Amino acid sequence: MTALTFSTSSAATLRADAIVVGVAKGAKGPVAAPGAEAVDTAFDGKLAAVLETLGATGGEGEVTKLPAPSGFKAPVVLAVGLGDAPEDEGFGTETLRRAAGAAARALTGAKKGAFALPVADAEDAAAVAEGALMGAYAFTSYRTSGADSAGGAKKKDDKSAPLAEVVVLGGKPRDKAFKAAAERAAAVAAEVNRARDLINTPSNDLNPKSFAAAAQAAAKEHGLKIEILDEKALAKGGYGGLMGVGQGSDSPPRLVRIGYTHPKAEKTLAFVGKGITYDSGGISLKPAGHNETMKCDMSGAAAVFAAVVAVAKLGLAVNVTGWLALAENMPSGSATRPGDVLRMYSGKTVEVLNTDAEGRLVLADALTRASEENPDAIVDVATLTGAMVLALGNRTFGIMANDDAFRASVHEIAEEVGEQSWPMPMPAELRKGMDSSVADIANMGERMGGGLVAGLFLKEFVGEGIPWAHLDIAGPAFNESGPFGYTPKGGTGSAVRTLVRLAERTAEGDLG
Ligand code: BES
Ligand code: MN
Ligand code: ZN
Repeated sequence: MTALTFSTSSAATLRADAIVVGVAKGAKGPVAAPGAEAVDTAFDGKLAAVLETLGATGGEGEVTKLPAPSGFKAPVVLAVGLGDAPEDEGFGTETLRRAAGAAARALTGAKKGAFALPVADAEDAAAVAEGALMGAYAFTSYRTSGADSAGGAKKKDDKSAPLAEVVVLGGKPRDKAFKAAAERAAAVAAEVNRARDLINTPSNDLNPKSFAAAAQAAAKEHGLKIEILDEKALAKGGYGGLMGVGQGSDSPPRLVRIGYTHPKAEKTLAFVGKGITYDSGGISLKPAGHNETMKCDMSGAAAVFAAVVAVAKLGLAVNVTGWLALAENMPSGSATRPGDVLRMYSGKTVEVLNTDAEGRLVLADALTRASEENPDAIVDVATLTGAMVLALGNRTFGIMANDDAFRASVHEIAEEVGEQSWPMPMPAELRKGMDSSVADIANMGERMGGGLVAGLFLKEFVGEGIPWAHLDIAGPAFNESGPFGYTPKGGTGSAVRTLVRLAERTAEGDLG
């Protein structure tokens, strides 16, 4: 894990591998951002001109490296693009987060990066820290000393190692607000990275049992209460959704309850995560081209797990219960068949018309179980539908809810932490498409609006009167294209920051 410190040192005197400064896009070319003063002065006020000569424009995420001015203790200045120069207010926190992330990625293999970006207050400093720590991520568990794509020999700890130390300049290390900001940034980024690690772990190593074991280890470390229902307990308890989805796999399902409580808490939140450790589609097998990334189908459970640990690290005055609905969806002689009817934990019967619509089945059981404890609100997180990816693309998750105000709050919170999301409706007329001729409901409905249909299905398993929101993260959970900002290729940790902020706002009494 990358180390984080705040420092009041000058960029000139700090020993580091690189000084990171910001460059914005001005009307007449690139302009050096606040924070770059020491570097600019050393360049006789010509930093922007030097950068322009090197082809820099100040465009978002653009990285330009140049030798540091003489007298500097760091050898390199790395200018990172911030995008359009703001007219009055400062750079937004998400702009800082992304720029710091891009810079941290460009410093892969380096030991120490000093970030001299435009930091006006503790919130800005936290954004720089968070972005840098999230950008300084690499999933190396499965790399030996093997060759890289160019065929060159690589050691695990060499040039592909993430930046080891982040120093945020302009952050006052002794100031209370800055101290809290640093702690928060470190905890949040570490937990986002924990979710990413779980998502990136291939399904031959991450199955319901090993996922539950990881949760158990973290629970022990952070003083959380944990209960794990194994396949026997699930069968006995009547968890037909989890059992029905998991029964085709040699790795049986689990339902994990991981609980954080605070003595002064006035509210309790329940987070429910879809944890399909591999989604082959089951008997309704996915075609080639649709299953290569399906190790990511537990991203919701990873986000929930990571968020609960982050809340514990931050010691927030709110109770948070995480529910991880873990199963592997495989075809086999013991798998659920299309046309089978499952009796769910709620007592409702579900006709499984498509075994690839499995997420809603495991979530339904977990939502019913979570509702029994009558939390003040429930948020589920799931890579639920391809339809949501078609609707919103690869970087935005959809938010559905049984309560308009709650949906708006979650949307606003996501925006605040820099996660792209959009509110989606749950049109009542789509319910009849799930009418079944044999059971209470079918697990599939109309193809059009498939993401909304899934939301309507889940809604029927949420306890009466409990505000509930459903985050369909199928798009942003897993980045199949190149890295950008603080987002790496592969697992992204989508929704972790939204859940943590929701817990903070609830602890602060800002919600309901
Ligand atoms: N895990 C998939 C959804 C998904 C698709 C996640 C793409 C990430 C990227 C889910 O279990 C699924 O297969 N959904 C089906 C539902 C359909 C059969 C009603 C879908 O979206 O096609
Ligand atoms: Mn599926
Ligand atoms: Zn799935």
